[in-house]
Order: sequence, then C-alpha cells, then structure tokens
Amino acid sequence: MTVTDARSGQPIRKGRLGRVGYSIACLGWRGALAELAKRPDSPETDAEFDAMHGTNTAGSVEPADLGIRDADTVRKAIRYLPSPLRVTSWMLNEIGVDPARCSFVDIGCGKGRVLLVAAERPFRHIAGVEISTELADIARLNTQRYRPASSRVGAIAVSNSDARDFEMPSGDLLIHMYHPFDPAISAAVFARLATSADARPRRVSVAYLTYTHSVPAVAEMFSAIGWLRLVRYEESISGRYNWLFYDGSTPG
Ligand SMILES: C[S@@+](CC[C@H](N)C(=O)[O-])C[C@H]1O[C@@H](n2cnc3c(N)ncnc32)[C@H](O)[C@@H]1O
Repeated sequence: MTVTDARSGQPIRKGRLGRVGYSIACLGWRGALAELAKRPDSPETDAEFDAMHGTNTAGSVEPADLGIRDADTVRKAIRYLPSPLRVTSWMLNEIGVDPARCSFVDIGCGKGRVLLVAAERPFRHIAGVEISTELADIARLNTQRYRPASSRVGAIAVSNSDARDFEMPSGDLLIHMYHPFDPAISAAVFARLATSADARPRRVSVAYLTYTHSVPAVAEMFSAIGWLRLVRYEESISGRYNWLFYDGSTPG
C-alpha cells in the first residue's frame, strides 16, 4: 500500500526496488548487502570515524542518562546515537542546498559528528544544540580534536540547551535532525522558528533521518506546519536510515 503525505501527496512508503537503490547509493554495496542479510552495521559500535579523526563520537546514551531534569522532557527524548558518516554525506550531496547561502543546524547534535562532517562544506555558520551537558562538552572537545583540522571546524558553535529554547542563526537554514525527540517537541521548535527575531521570510530546508516506525508521526507533525512541504522521501532496506526532506519559507 502506498502511504502519502497529507499536504504534498508525496509517497512516504517505498517499494523494495526503491529501498534497495537508495541503500546502495547511501550505504554502499557492503552496507546494502549487510542490510539485506539483516546484519546492518551498528552506529554505536562503529569506531571508524573516531579512529580516522581522533574524536569521540561513537556509543549510545539512553534518555535517562542524558542528565535532563524535567521528567516529561526525558520521556520525549530519544537516546544518543551518532549518524553514520556515509548517511550524512549522502544527505549533504543530495539535499540540493547551496552551503554558501545558508547556515547548517543540527538539532540534538549529541557528540557533534554531523557538525564535523558539515564543516567540510562552506556553510555560513554551523551550529548544534544539545540538551545533555556532557554530550555538548564532548561535541566541543571533538571540534578541537578533529583531524585533519579543517579551517571550518573552529567555526562550529555548540549550545547546551533544550531545542525549544534555542535561537536559530539568522538567514536561510539547512536543519538536520536524527529523530532527536517526540514530534510534539519538534512542533514547538518549528513554531518558534516561524516567529523568530529574524522576521524576514527565509528559506528553510529540513533533512530528517528516522526509522520506519516513527515516520507516520513525524510526517503528520510536519504536514501540520503550513509553510514546509515534503519534497523527498527515501527508505533503507532495514528501515533504519529513512530520510524525509522538507523545504519552504518561513511566513515572515
Ligand atoms: C539520535 S541522537 C542524534 C545525534 C546527532 N544529531 C547525530 O545525528 O549524530 C539525538 C540527540 O538528541 C538529543 N536531544 C533529546 N532531546 C533533546 C531536546 N529536548 N533538546 C535538545 N537535544 C535533545 C539527545 O540527547 C541526543 O543526543
């Protein structure tokens, strides 16, 4: 059965062929075959990125261990898990956004792996927001340890706060989210963005990575935001690396 996005009519389920094609393009033949064999690589134990760059981004942290004080925010948080390098690189190549014209923001940036990957491109500003003080500190340390030290890594700004309290950089934005929390929190984040201090209408592109079982709730939340529209959906064989791309202009 084809499920479609309420506003754009875009399909948000993929046939098997589409999933295989995307998995090969995004994860490579080895990664796609591992998914087909139901033995997908595990991002929490993937030490390759850290071995290459002298950083600490692997591992996972459960919501109860993120140091969040408010019980409802803990319930709505998703555990820390780093994005695989290949998955982030695929998105940056495919999203169709000119980095020189916008700022990159990772909402729920964890230990900052995605920020480090984005820093290889000429974004105006690169910012992350992370609720866990421990993870935000690790992300900042990673920007100092990253090698080879790209000139842009020093430009990364990591804020330690709840995403609902974060003021986005001004101007056009590419927002990355790896299913950081319940869609109710995302709704508040985008409502704040629509009425932010930067009153001019600005282009906002969103790259949202998530698992198949959370896609309907995430798509429903986005379809309620009148100024964002689903422009692309990709689904991996295992359903672990699904991308929802949205695009639009803030009401201003
Ligand atoms: C799945 S991890 C993604 C990490 C990183 N974006 C990446 O792709 O490698 C989700 C992150 O969201 C953070 N998070 C959860 N609730 C949050 C909130 N209310 N505000 C900010 N960050 C939050 C978690 O601590 C965790 O680090």
